[in-house]
Formats: sequence, C-alpha cells, structure tokens
Amino acid sequence: MRTVEYTRQGEAAQVLTLREERHRPTPGSGEVLVRMLVRPIHPGDLIGVEGLPGQPEQQSQARTPGVEGMGVVESVGASVRAPRLGQRVAVFPAPGTWSDFVVVPADLAVPVPDGVSDETAALMLVNPLTLRMLYRAVEKALRGQAGPVLQTAAGSSVGRLVSAAAARHDLQLINLVRSTSGAEKMRTLYPSQPVIATCDDDWRAQVRLHAGERGVQVVLDCVGGAMTQDLAELLADGGTLISYGHLGSGTTPLEALPLVARALTVRGVSILRWMSRTPMERAQDVAFAQDLAQSTPDLLEVAASYDLADFKAAVEHARRPGKSGTVLLTTPRKAGSGHGAGR
Ligand SMILES: NC(=O)c1ccc[n+]([C@@H]2O[C@H](COP(=O)([O-])OP(=O)(O)OC[C@H]3O[C@@H](n4cnc5c(N)ncnc54)[C@H](OP(=O)(O)O)[C@@H]3O)[C@@H](O)[C@H]2O)c1
Repeated sequence: MRTVEYTRQGEAAQVLTLREERHRPTPGSGEVLVRMLVRPIHPGDLIGVEGLPGQPEQQSQARTPGVEGMGVVESVGASVRAPRLGQRVAVFPAPGTWSDFVVVPADLAVPVPDGVSDETAALMLVNPLTLRMLYRAVEKALRGQAGPVLQTAAGSSVGRLVSAAAARHDLQLINLVRSTSGAEKMRTLYPSQPVIATCDDDWRAQVRLHAGERGVQVVLDCVGGAMTQDLAELLADGGTLISYGHLGSGTTPLEALPLVARALTVRGVSILRWMSRTPMERAQDVAFAQDLAQSTPDLLEVAASYDLADFKAAVEHARRPGKSGTVLLTTPRKAGSGHGAGR
C-alpha cells in the first residue's frame, strides 16, 4: 500500500514523500477499511502540510494529508451492519485519505448514490457541507435581510457553490475575483450576479456602487491576509465578516479593523467543527450533499486527475492560477476485484 506522508511542516514539494509498505491497517470494532480510489487536494490539506505564517508548527509524528475521498469497503470490523463489503462510499472526516487504504468509523462512510461518478463522489462531502455551514452563518448574520453579501475568490469551488445557492435563494450576492479572466468566467456562469475583479484600481468603488445605499451587510471571505482591512471597510455599520480561508498573503492586525466604532462582527467558520452538529443535523447535511452530487454534479468540477504517486505534479496543478475545479489523486481499481461498479 502507498501512503503520502510528511514528518515536518514545510513547502509541500519538499516535505511530502511516498512510502510503500506491505502492512494494511485493520478495522476495529465499529470501523471499516476503505480501499481509497479518489481523493481531492483541498487548500486546507496544503495548509495542514505547510502551516500558516505566524502559527507554531503542529507536528509530532508522521502524518498523511487528506480528509475526504471515495473508495470501496474492503473489510469491516465487529458489529458493523452498514456499509457492506464492496460498497462505494465517500468518507469525511477521514484523516489520511492520501493513502491507498484508510480506516474510518462505519457511520462516517457515506454510501455513494447510484449514478454518481467516482470523481464526483470524491468531492461530495467537504465543499457541500462547507456550503451548508457558510449559508447558515450568512443567514444568521443577515437576520432576515436579503443582502447584499460580498464574497471573495468567487471562482473557487466553494465560491461557485455559494453563487449557485444565492441564485436559488434570491440572495443578493456580489462576486469578487482577482483577475479579469476570472471575472469573465463568473459572468458567464452567473450572469445575474455582479462580478468585480480586484485587479481593477477602482474595485472598492465598484463594490460600493453595487451594494447601494444599504452597503455590504456580510462579507464571506476565504482570502484574508492583507485584504481583510479593505473588506472590513466595505462593510456597512453593524455588518459581519465571515472568515473561512487563508488564500491570501500578509496579515491584518485586529486593531487595524474598525470593529468597535462601527460595531462590526468577525466570525470564523470551519468544516472541522461539523462533527459538533447533532447526528440528525449531520444526516440532513449529508442528504443535501448526496442530492447535490446526483442532481448537479457540474457544481463539483474536476480540474484534473493524477495518480497518487504523482502527488507533486498534482499539488503544483492545485495551486495554478486560473485553475477551475479541484485536482484529484487517484488509485487504479484493483484488477478483477469486481467491487463497486462505478457510475
Ligand atoms: N473553513 C472551511 O471549513 C473550508 C472548507 C473548504 C474550503 N475552505 C476554503 O475555501 C477556499 C476555497 O477553497 P476551494 O477548494 O474552493 O478552492 P479552489 O477551488 O482551489 O479555488 C481557489 C480559488 O482561489 C482563488 N485564489 C487563489 N489565491 C488567491 C488570492 N491570493 N487572492 C484571491 N483569490 C485567490 C483562485 O483564483 P484564480 O482563478 O484567480 O486563480 C481560485 O478561484 C480556500 O481558502 C479553502 O481553504 C474552507
């Protein structure tokens, strides 16, 4: 079995290595062993490998990146009733999916609906569940108003899910991207939503124009860094900045934000908190994700697929400006296994 791992944080191309071993993990009681077939490279996976500026290194032992993916159930531990042997499943949270095998609690191995491709299934959980968490945070911050909401990195995989949800729910959304070509792509996908490129000198004035008299009520931000101050200044008094990612560079001290004088709220949202939702809420979120994968798989776009062993080229692709969708790492299906006929 092949496993990508790192023993210290640093530049992914330098610290990630591929280890091969004969040993396979064994599922304990209530667990299943999943033969992984496809797993995404999420920006958060790379933050785990590389760390964030100014934060202490969090590393004590060898770790394998990846928190989600899809595969087939290879073996089951004691007292597992579902999923069945050979069934296709999507897994999350499943630390260490950049490996040929992963052991997960049986209730975190979600059956892949018939007709959903392996590639779509590998993207079925993290981003759709993030969308649910972001949308709830936006609704809470808006307190019944229709917006406007300003989102950064609108062309990202998560950003496009937000745009689709806003279009469905008549939420007034202003999309921010960093390039003119990115803005053109978004205008084609969501013509009714204003798109502004931050490479334009007057992008702040454009945001104010589109926000109108009410001003921006909520900013949904995954860029952060040096941009945070601009975003906070674009908020209307009493508005909320929801931070959920760190794609940008630089930092903004809290003291630089007009929080007190303008009664602004800053809150974070993380998929890593999803397990604290009740089992019933999680079941509803998972049903939403399964339905999205079946009904609108184009919202879970694949940028490219690479064999797990080509993880360095795959990571480079995942970081390429202008990329559209998510890069996947794949493992060939076992010859003659007969398990989990895909699509
Ligand atoms: N908090 C959570 O639980 C959670 C969960 C999932 C994702 N996220 C976050 O959501 C964000 C998007 O993830 P994703 O998987 O959707 O990403 P993705 O599909 O890889 O897309 C990345 C996008 O970000 C843009 N971008 C990259 N660097 C940028 C910068 N410095 N300034 C402005 N735009 C930049 C790229 O634009 P170009 O087209 O211009 O290259 C691209 O559209 C990430 O920050 C990720 O960590 C958070």
